[in-house]
Amino acid sequence: MQIQKKNFILLSVALLNKQQKLSLVFDNKNTQFISLKIYLASMIGIAKGLTQDFVKKAPKIELHAHLNGCVRRQTLFEIAQRKQINVDFSIFDLRNIKGAFSIFQLIHQVLRDLSDIRRVSREVLEDFKDQNVAYLELRTTPKSCELGTYTKEQYLATVIDEIQKFQQLHGDKMQARLLVSIDRGRPLDDARSTLNHILKLKNNNLIAGIDFSGNPSKSTFKEYEQLLEQARKEGFKITIHVAELEGDEYLQESFDIVNFKPDRLGHFNFYNQELYNKVRQLDIPIEMCPTSNFYTVNMKSLSEHHFKEFFYQGHTINLNTDDTCVFDTDITQEHFKMIQAFNLSEDEFKQLLLRSSNMIFDQSYRPLLQQRINEYFSSSQKQ
Ligand code: IMP
Ligand code: ZN
Repeated sequence: MQIQKKNFILLSVALLNKQQKLSLVFDNKNTQFISLKIYLASMIGIAKGLTQDFVKKAPKIELHAHLNGCVRRQTLFEIAQRKQINVDFSIFDLRNIKGAFSIFQLIHQVLRDLSDIRRVSREVLEDFKDQNVAYLELRTTPKSCELGTYTKEQYLATVIDEIQKFQQLHGDKMQARLLVSIDRGRPLDDARSTLNHILKLKNNNLIAGIDFSGNPSKSTFKEYEQLLEQARKEGFKITIHVAELEGDEYLQESFDIVNFKPDRLGHFNFYNQELYNKVRQLDIPIEMCPTSNFYTVNMKSLSEHHFKEFFYQGHTINLNTDDTCVFDTDITQEHFKMIQAFNLSEDEFKQLLLRSSNMIFDQSYRPLLQQRINEYFSSSQKQ
């Protein structure tokens, strides 16, 4: 969501039939013509309408999903009932960033045992596989249970164990990796101990990197910068949630984060022209989460999404769920909604997936992933 929206004009001329749409996207700063798309699908049949089924079956890439934010609502409900934990499920109606953080609190309250963590990890992996995700980077914050039922080390070992088991059973269908989250809502000491834990697991090739997330209003990036720098020096790739909130202090922080040059950025909702130029120039890939961004930014329609300001420029971006439970979504919907919002063609959908494959942290899987994407689209064209 560009703060100075005037720099971009999206001119859409709807022709007589609603499906016949002429979209012109101009960057009026340098009056450079960016993209001209003519949709005359129903009239002359040149574009192929993408069905939800086609999108579901495509080999997709999910890089921004928080484990506990993706718990099945039914599972949460069942566990809460069985343990007689009284929770107010009406908070699921809160669709904003503040509401999201109270939902996380609720989820963490319900998942009290290691067996819950095991079950949720297994189910979340299955859910992404069932959506035909070919490569997943799942992230979670290692934590101990306040009731003393598990330690941080046990939590991490359990999640890794479930990923390992999944790999053995379903690795041919979906490759899964772990990103270890550092929660800025927790004290710096907690982040330090997380880093110490994962340094011991440096050679575990299921750990693909580190994520910096949590409530952005609780601390500043600067407080954690040194620690993240240390992690980078140890060889970890880093992705950082950035520009989730609007306001001068957050904009300044976004500059700090971009200047840190993380390997990837998460969300990137609010920015000005200077910040936009910086990210373009540094060529930092962006993990976009349409539904999550929609609620955080308070958009009227997904066609306002900053996707348009990056995708048509050739920037490396991908689409993700963030928290399937909180935003009541899945990875097929995230793609399908954006295909609809921007009238993406089959070729543009393919380009989007290929671009996603360029930003995965375990690059050793990239050739196979690209092969799967190419095969899917070439076989679909023959039909
Ligand atoms: P967990 O790390 O598996 O427990 O997943 C939930 C956690 O992910 C939350 O407590 C937050 O720290 C983080 N998280 C999930 N979604 C967001 C987001 O949109 N912004 C910032 N942090 C998030
Ligand atoms: Zn997130």
